[in-house]
Amino acid sequence: MKGSSLSLALALAAPSQAYLRFGCATLTVQRLDPLVEPGAIPSAHLHQIVGGNAFNATMDPSVDVGQKATCTTCSFSEDFSNYWTAVMYFKARNGTYKRVPQYPNALLGNLKGGMTIYYLQESFNSNGNQKITAFKPDIMTRFPETAEFPKQPCPAGIMAIHHFPACWDGKNLDTPNHQDHMYNTVQGAFRPAGACPSSHPVRVPQVAFETMWDTAQFNDKSLWPEDGSQPFVWSYEDSLGYGTHGDYLFGWKGDALQRAMDSRPLFSDGLAIQSVDQANRCTIRNTVNEEIDGWLDSLPGRN
Ligand SMILES: *[C@@H]1O[C@H](CO)[C@@H](O)[C@H](O)[C@H]1NC(C)=O
Ligand SMILES: *[C@@H]1O[C@H](CO)[C@@H](O)[C@H](O)[C@H]1NC(C)=O
Repeated sequence: MKGSSLSLALALAAPSQAYLRFGCATLTVQRLDPLVEPGAIPSAHLHQIVGGNAFNATMDPSVDVGQKATCTTCSFSEDFSNYWTAVMYFKARNGTYKRVPQYPNALLGNLKGGMTIYYLQESFNSNGNQKITAFKPDIMTRFPETAEFPKQPCPAGIMAIHHFPACWDGKNLDTPNHQDHMYNTVQGAFRPAGACPSSHPVRVPQVAFETMWDTAQFNDKSLWPEDGSQPFVWSYEDSLGYGTHGDYLFGWKGDALQRAMDSRPLFSDGLAIQSVDQANRCTIRNTVNEEIDGWLDSLPGRN
């Protein structure tokens, strides 16, 4: 426990650091989607979700999840936000599907599955001498990325990065397409955010998630399709990879994120850190209760 907090602290202590990077273990893997299909049990496709235990099929925007949640799978114990993405499956030559396991970033200790979360100021090294305003409680955003699945087996697995926009309209916590309240200044992850336009003048942290999919058990090419196509598929049945998206629901407790963003340089020391064991212990009840593992004839919800 002590060792993992120490390595987390070291990993966060880069010179002139303008970002937070931390791990969050898997909270649940279920067909739930409070952003796009609130109330649906189950929702259309499977998600893997990390963060606070206030996550539910319906999340009332008037309830601050930073107040409601009682535990989180994230190393920063004041971060009750939820972060979620689709789930990766392998489709074998015989047409059956198996869920691809997730593995954690080795720098961040022995978290169970989950994701690595980043909050960047203007770039990794600079806040661009501007005020970075933390998100308001319960702001929600979906953001798409376009990236193809690799065509060959990858010995180290497949890493998916979802990168969120850095400018907010200052008014809306959500919009009908879950995107228009935000403005993306750059294409692609981890590049300095350019200026925010007058329509979206509020600079917010650039949030990104990294999910590492452990494809090692599927690298045997005799299981891959005979036509040379690649075998991985997202849980909404996308075998190209283009439609992947990540969802973010802000839930830091109180002003913890704002305090971090206001420090010069950014001091994550001010943020409370919990042990890997504590993060791994946080979980929620399974309300959908369906088979998502084993060799499946169809993707959950897609038969
Ligand atoms: C989710 O909400 C329902 C009511 O809509 C409630 O009964 C249930 O306990 C909640 N689940 C969790 C994990 O909070
Ligand atoms: C399909 O292929 C997988 C991988 O080889 C195997 O484990 C599974 O049993 C097969 N299922 C059927 C129905 O043949």
